[in-house]
Amino acid sequence: MDVKKLSLEDRAKMCNGVGRWYTQAVEGLDSIMVADGPHGLRKENRDEEKGTIERVKATCFPSAAGLACSWNEELIGEVGKTLAKETKAEQVSVLLGPGVNMKRSPLCGRNFEYFSEDPYLAGKLATSYVNGVQGEGVGTSLKHFAVNSQETRRFTIDEVVSERALREIYLPAFEMVVKESQPKTIMASYNKINGVHACENKWLLTDLLRKEWGFKGLVTSDWNAVTDIAKALEAGCDITMPTTKGEFPKRIVQMVKEGTLDEKYVNESAQRVADLAEWGLANIDKNATYDRDEDHAVAANIARECMVLLKNEGMLPLKKGESVAIIGGFARNPRFQGGGSSHVTTTKVDDIFENFEQIGGGELVYAQGYPEESDLADDALIAEAVAAAKKCGKAIVFAGLPDSYETESRDRRHMRMPEAHCKLIEEVAKACPDTTVVLSAGSPVEMPWIGSVNAILHAYLGGQALGKAIAEIVYGDINPSGKLAETHPVKLEDNPTFGFYPGDLERSIHSEDIYIGYRWYEKKKIPVNFPFGFGLSYTKYEYESISLDKKEMTDEDTLTVTVKVKNVGKRDGKEVVELYTAAPENAVELRPVKELKGFKKVFIRAGESAEVSFTLSKRSFAYWDVTEHTWRVPTGKYRVYAGSSSVDVPLVAEVNIEEKNPPCHPITLETTYGKLTKNSSYKDVVEDVVGAFAPQEAIGILTSEEGKADPVFSTYQNHTPRRALYTGRTYEYIEDVIEKVNKKLGF
Ligand code: BGC
Repeated sequence: MDVKKLSLEDRAKMCNGVGRWYTQAVEGLDSIMVADGPHGLRKENRDEEKGTIERVKATCFPSAAGLACSWNEELIGEVGKTLAKETKAEQVSVLLGPGVNMKRSPLCGRNFEYFSEDPYLAGKLATSYVNGVQGEGVGTSLKHFAVNSQETRRFTIDEVVSERALREIYLPAFEMVVKESQPKTIMASYNKINGVHACENKWLLTDLLRKEWGFKGLVTSDWNAVTDIAKALEAGCDITMPTTKGEFPKRIVQMVKEGTLDEKYVNESAQRVADLAEWGLANIDKNATYDRDEDHAVAANIARECMVLLKNEGMLPLKKGESVAIIGGFARNPRFQGGGSSHVTTTKVDDIFENFEQIGGGELVYAQGYPEESDLADDALIAEAVAAAKKCGKAIVFAGLPDSYETESRDRRHMRMPEAHCKLIEEVAKACPDTTVVLSAGSPVEMPWIGSVNAILHAYLGGQALGKAIAEIVYGDINPSGKLAETHPVKLEDNPTFGFYPGDLERSIHSEDIYIGYRWYEKKKIPVNFPFGFGLSYTKYEYESISLDKKEMTDEDTLTVTVKVKNVGKRDGKEVVELYTAAPENAVELRPVKELKGFKKVFIRAGESAEVSFTLSKRSFAYWDVTEHTWRVPTGKYRVYAGSSSVDVPLVAEVNIEEKNPPCHPITLETTYGKLTKNSSYKDVVEDVVGAFAPQEAIGILTSEEGKADPVFSTYQNHTPRRALYTGRTYEYIEDVIEKVNKKLGF
């Protein structure tokens, strides 16, 4: 449909939602429905007249924090496909997810909805998700664009973040999904970024998203995020959700008539709404259905790969038929999803205890362990649990974070579990050394009891079929293969945002810059409970070899890396092979110790080896140069690491990379010798500069008293411009040298 044929009033209406979930219908074009959410359809049938809301049942899959622990792109594609099937059966055209915000602080109330602290991992998994959903003819909404790092004051907070941290940390996951799978829509977030609301941010929504990344879809506001509709339209935010009951459309018409809003913005946005609606309507299938039991089984299959075995001193897997104490209210009333707009009304929920009975079979003694409604320890419940543990000789404690701890619209204030859960674990473990803790939480928690238990399985928020998956892992039917998609620090104070998060009344300053997650803990050598990428298995893998297809390359070439891994244990298993790159040690720019740039999950039979190949390219080695506003790979020797976690990388190889077209600018009085030698575009003029000054001044090596080159002075000299005062030359002389050199450079 060409919207220009519609009246201005109709076009203005199309730029605003109808009710909470619909687009505006116009003559010749019906409306479409959108619905939350990332890990299960949350469709509401609202009867505005009667004021009733019916919540449609759907399958609840593990939330993104758990999904990410699978490190399995194919599996996430399957989640997407299944979600799309249910969404289609409910005649919904766009599913509002996935969320790819970075986990800046473990306290963010929506961390359970986000994949990772690493942009590469989040971007890859979200790409599979979007492809999975959209391949079935249902749209997605990549959210929350961008830097929605906290829930506290989310409508007004100004996320003050450097250009480099934006490019290297907060934007790449969005960029990857846009470039690799063109989500039908993107949701602009509530917060401001460096002073400008995301929904009103022309740089973000038009210059970057559409012009630089080539986004072709529609931008929607987050719900009630827009205050200034003119600014939003001018920035490229096409539709404001939900309805404003006619207010925004009225203002749009008025502003166009008064000449304060250019009609072209209304036309462009209305056209994008029309294009999306046409696509959605063409994909509506009135006969689409799905089978609830089948999807519950899919959810169980997915949950199996999303759980991470963090510790195992031999207690797991349990033998079937053993007598075990099953302790903790979560065993009967599980915690499997987070609160807020992603909350799914489930088709059913596994009772963990029943699954233990079915799969394990032995005598199981249940004890509640902690009160349902209070965080305070209850001595009587603990005593009952301790008695059960003693009787059975083995105990599994189900603990973690209750619902109230993790929900949209507020952040946690601390990283602790309820006192009732911690005390229970401590007392049970004291009485029964064979104690395993199964955690349910959407984010890391402090574990003061970590040393006293035998095993820890992190089930994250495992979705409605978590019970079966947990029982299968505990009893060894399934070999655990999940790995952490975020670091689990020892304590909150170790996190780089401590003391800055969630900011003051107006601003949240990202003083840690690019150093979030493992980038921080590695750089600062801070011990953590469990590192990024970590996860145990019931088998063992040995990293045998790494090879590169070349030793020398330019930043325009690609590099093939082949890694060989052997399963040296007794069980078949799935291993996630992780690939990290590191910049040259003498890099001028500050770089993380290493960064994830590849991963693959492979099934390896006991005793067999697998070969895994990766292709690395410029972005695998690049950093964002804020003076040039571009990605750069300065010439030097780069390292490629392979291993089983961010701290366990036994294989390393090196490659020399030459920067093919380094930025070249005229030399000025500010140009330093260091800059000339670090950038190969100046290679033909370095000698001229050296020749123009006394070699010692130019090369910048001062000798120490013993007559040796002194690296401190040498560095100092490298970064000192050749000014008159410093070189003992006249300005005329220096300017003459600069002019000649610039001519030679072609300026
Ligand atoms: C949330 C979005 C969600 C929307 C619609 C907002 O409050 O931030 O993630 O999609 O509501 O429910």
